Amino acid sequence: MFRKKSENLSVSSGRLPDFKYLRADDIYLDNACQSPRPQPVIDAMTNYYQTYNACGGRVKYKWGQKVDSLVEETRDLVINYLGLSKKDYICSFTLNTTYGINLVLGQLPSGIYKQIITSEIEHNSVFLPTINLANRLKVKRKVLNRTDDGSLDYEISDLEKSIVVVNTTSNIDGRLLLNIKQLVADSHKSGGIVIIDAAQTMAHYHELLVGCEADAICFSAHKMYAGSLGVVVIKKNLLETLNIGIVGGGMVSGVKEQSYTLLADNMTSWLEPGLQAYGEIISLKYAISWLNSVKPDGLMPSQYIEKLSRSLHEGLSEIPGLIILNKTPSSLISVYSEKVDAHRLATFLSASGIMVRSGYFCCHYYLLEKRKFPPLLRFSIGLQTTEKDIRKTIEIMEKIAKG
Ligand SMILES: Cc1ncc(COP(=O)(O)O)c(C=O)c1O
Repeated sequence: MFRKKSENLSVSSGRLPDFKYLRADDIYLDNACQSPRPQPVIDAMTNYYQTYNACGGRVKYKWGQKVDSLVEETRDLVINYLGLSKKDYICSFTLNTTYGINLVLGQLPSGIYKQIITSEIEHNSVFLPTINLANRLKVKRKVLNRTDDGSLDYEISDLEKSIVVVNTTSNIDGRLLLNIKQLVADSHKSGGIVIIDAAQTMAHYHELLVGCEADAICFSAHKMYAGSLGVVVIKKNLLETLNIGIVGGGMVSGVKEQSYTLLADNMTSWLEPGLQAYGEIISLKYAISWLNSVKPDGLMPSQYIEKLSRSLHEGLSEIPGLIILNKTPSSLISVYSEKVDAHRLATFLSASGIMVRSGYFCCHYYLLEKRKFPPLLRFSIGLQTTEKDIRKTIEIMEKIAKG
């Protein structure tokens, strides 16, 4: 697709120069699904594919050696970004959050844990695997409520020898797991573990996780401005208990006719059977460095997101007939209209260049079964979003509301 010279590029719209490849009249508000990639991340991936396109962990030639050192730097940076220690944690790569959660839960041993705890507002990527896990381990599974501020509403007895699997940021209304540190401390005292779905946390709310000491943290790099990739940060002492059953290339030190030995000195390989997405892994290093240095409107990313979230929340709150699910502003805001179906609203908005999500966002249990909501419309902003984008979105929503 070639742009005509006369078409307006976004430089004049106040968009960060790293997104200047976006058209000014394309307003992408589906960051909760995947974020647009800033130019340094795109350049890093292109550079990998064009100048050192080799595998990692297997070869002695120079391209592979470069891959190895950049992949290791990425692992270190991720652990550091979460304020955790390399002494206790490893960082492995996989397909996405969904796969990471299944990889950990699917390999947990039986006979240790007594119950599984999750929450009502989980994405299907937590809700479904915890159902399967309860069936496999033959233990009780409890679905707890989240309070209005996003904390998990638990009793200490819920945590006894429990596997707790919860998100730290809801993909429905942005609620944050504000009691994460207490939850982790209480779980550990009760002989349990905590596995975190951080899919919606890493891009704009990662401070919540810093030093949280959860046993495993799973997230998607594609929701935090990097290439399409899953990440599992896991405590070494939990990894050692897993029944590693998804196996293949790159993870053994020896193979006999009827047995094999996992690489004892490379635990990251235990969750990485076969070749990995090396360009995407390396892009995550660039995405984190970018998040650590970018200053939209002179602000830290989290402050910028907070400012835009407030504008959007305020604007949407004033539209008659629009019900907002969020109790507070967030980078993701879900609404429904009393008059117009959400899928039709999404189609109308798209005609004005505004791209938002409609439906149940893979949270069928909470939205459809428990709360019986109609399909929702979700606006999720990112660092490519501008005040002008927000104003236009509110203006078009107001026009639709007036009919
Ligand atoms: C809270 C939450 N958890 C998990 C996921 C699953 O992420 P992925 O599809 O990248 O595996 C999503 C995706 O939207 C999500 O919002």
